[in-house]
Amino acid sequence: MRLSLRFVLPLMLVLAGIAYAVAPLVDQLTLRWFVRDLDIRSSLIVNTIQEPLQEQLAAGKKAKIGEFFNRITQDERLYAVGYCAAPQGPALASRSLPAEIRCAELDRWEGPGDHLLPSARGPLHVAVQPMTSEVAPGGKLVLVHDMSFVTRRSEETKRYVFYFFMALAAVVSLITVIIAQLSWRGWMAGMHSLLRGEGLLRQPDPGAQPDRPEFKPIARDLQRLIRELEAETRARDESQITWTPESLRTILHGELRGEDVIVVSNREPYIHQRRGEHIEVQRPASGLVTALEPIMRACSGTWIAHGSGSADRDVVDKHDHIAVPPEKPAYQIRRVWLTAEEEAGYYYGFSNEGLWPLCHIAHVRPTFRSGDWAQYVAVNRKFAQAVVSEAKTKAPIVLVQDYHFALLPKMIREELPDATVIAFWHIPWPNPESFAICPWRDEVVAGLLGSSILGFHTQFHCNNFVGTVDRFLEARVDRESFTVSFGGKLTAVRRYPISIAWPPEAEMLQKDVSACRADIRQMNDLPAEHKLGIGVDRLDYTKGIVERFRAIERLLELNPQWVGRFTFVQIAAPTRSGIDEYQHHEAQVRAMATRINGRFEHQGPPPIVLKVEHHEPREVYEYFRAADLCFVSSLHDGMNLVAKEFVAARDDERGVLILSQFTGAARELPEALIVNPYDADQCAAALHLALVMPANEQRDRMRLMRGLVAEFNVFRWAGRMLLDAAAMRRRSRLIDKPGAANS
Ligand code: G6P
Repeated sequence: MRLSLRFVLPLMLVLAGIAYAVAPLVDQLTLRWFVRDLDIRSSLIVNTIQEPLQEQLAAGKKAKIGEFFNRITQDERLYAVGYCAAPQGPALASRSLPAEIRCAELDRWEGPGDHLLPSARGPLHVAVQPMTSEVAPGGKLVLVHDMSFVTRRSEETKRYVFYFFMALAAVVSLITVIIAQLSWRGWMAGMHSLLRGEGLLRQPDPGAQPDRPEFKPIARDLQRLIRELEAETRARDESQITWTPESLRTILHGELRGEDVIVVSNREPYIHQRRGEHIEVQRPASGLVTALEPIMRACSGTWIAHGSGSADRDVVDKHDHIAVPPEKPAYQIRRVWLTAEEEAGYYYGFSNEGLWPLCHIAHVRPTFRSGDWAQYVAVNRKFAQAVVSEAKTKAPIVLVQDYHFALLPKMIREELPDATVIAFWHIPWPNPESFAICPWRDEVVAGLLGSSILGFHTQFHCNNFVGTVDRFLEARVDRESFTVSFGGKLTAVRRYPISIAWPPEAEMLQKDVSACRADIRQMNDLPAEHKLGIGVDRLDYTKGIVERFRAIERLLELNPQWVGRFTFVQIAAPTRSGIDEYQHHEAQVRAMATRINGRFEHQGPPPIVLKVEHHEPREVYEYFRAADLCFVSSLHDGMNLVAKEFVAARDDERGVLILSQFTGAARELPEALIVNPYDADQCAAALHLALVMPANEQRDRMRLMRGLVAEFNVFRWAGRMLLDAAAMRRRSRLIDKPGAANS
């Protein structure tokens, strides 16, 4: 409407101006036409009255001629008539003949020209015609016409011209506005569809309008602008949020209006184990569980996982649900039961002998068996059915976790097309060449592309994934927006570095550092001032425990002053012990610890204390608080939350973190001593440096690392993904709304 007024008003003014400019021209033209008409009329009148006039003149009846003239001037337009027999004499005329017209000056009114005489009633037209007779051979008739009607007509004409131009302006404006509106809508529809990615990012629908190539550069610029604005707003908003369970809960209720949130992972957060007559609740050693548990506490919802504990079936209700945490229930676990064959093929086989070594590249060959793959497909389908049965709405938000469920996003999308699936890959994604050896690589990648958002810890892993898609699938990859369009659906590939809850539970920090130092040393028969290092891992070959022990041995070789004065406690949670490679690895680690201890033990306490057993988080925190250093030497790790847990545990701002450069965490914690775990000498030097590091340097480094973990905590990790999902849902609702493109 505003556009129409902005266009129509100036057009009207211009045309009104033209009307005023044109009116005098029209005036002159019409005047000329009227003068010509009056000349013709005058000749006609002269011809008509000539005969009776000559008769009267011949009869000498001058008085009668005056009357005759008075009579004929009763005509509306004929104002006066006069007759001059000779230039010297008086005129015989009607009473109305103007005094300015005299027989002696008739030449004035003859010849070419308009012959107008101004008067009080308006212009008069004077025509002089010869009228010869026997009595007066040089006689002339004067006819005076009233031209006031011409003025009246001219005014009328001007009015009509003005109206005409105004009408013309209205018609032109109307046509222009209609055309503009139609093409604007078409243009806007084109822009909307292009901004939605149709024609640029997606395959065009069959039968849809062909792409408008002229819009492509504009659309690309607009898309980039929108993305930048979104990123800016997000960055601004995020930096203003203090991420806590409460802020996450508020966001969930505000942005997602408390929508249905379902988490799917293989490992469950609470495992019920039978110990004789009793049932014990265990919290597994899993970075994934460590990260997701506080999120679920904050947002309730349902966590679907494999019921793997020996007493798991005994504690669930008839829908296989159990409310957790046991001490203060906040959400529910839905347990899915697997047969021994399913577990062997899906969990031990394809997940942990295939995908795990494939993605970690830790020099253990992946094993791929078609039987394992068949179980992997079947178990993914089983979990998809569990998601469908747990969904309270048609459009739940489903957070699919890790490499156990690569096929699940696609399967969920087939069953619940309106669901928002966020898949998170907690382990590294290798380069396309390495991934290519998987016989079902295409299916794995296509399965993941069923998600709306696919997350990795680092940009490097996002790049590797997008590179793999590009290499093996018929998909459209946009490296600017990091989106993949496959089968008409769009997946955003994003970096979300995972973290831990901050602040840590008060219970974990209850015991003060000096008490932890004293108790741990005492428990391990170590002198009070003994230097202590700590490592906490699952007993997994990717964690670089062998390399870590080699570095300790090298430290003692290069710096013998630490022999008998330094002990490294390695907590190693047993894991995946059904797999040969893990059994072999455990044996290797045990043998190495024994060998190194054998070499140096005679000089005091052993250099290595290996504890192959499960430890509850509170015990782990006590070790962290008691130690002088923590050594994380993974050969390859998506993130590694042990590094962040150590930092969180040190509220005394002491302790040194030695961190492998091959962990995602190394990118976030550069104040750690960053090492290459394959370089034993370098690691030994780092150990020595850590042991002699002055307290103020320890404090400066620790303070910076604690600041980062506090700010980039797990609530932010989940909050960012959920905010992105919420924005995506809002956008797709807008696009799906009928007529949205025209609004
Ligand atoms: C890694 C994986 C998790 C897994 C954890 C423990 O962190 O990314 O998905 O839960 O290891 O392994 P487990 O096989 O015992 O679940």
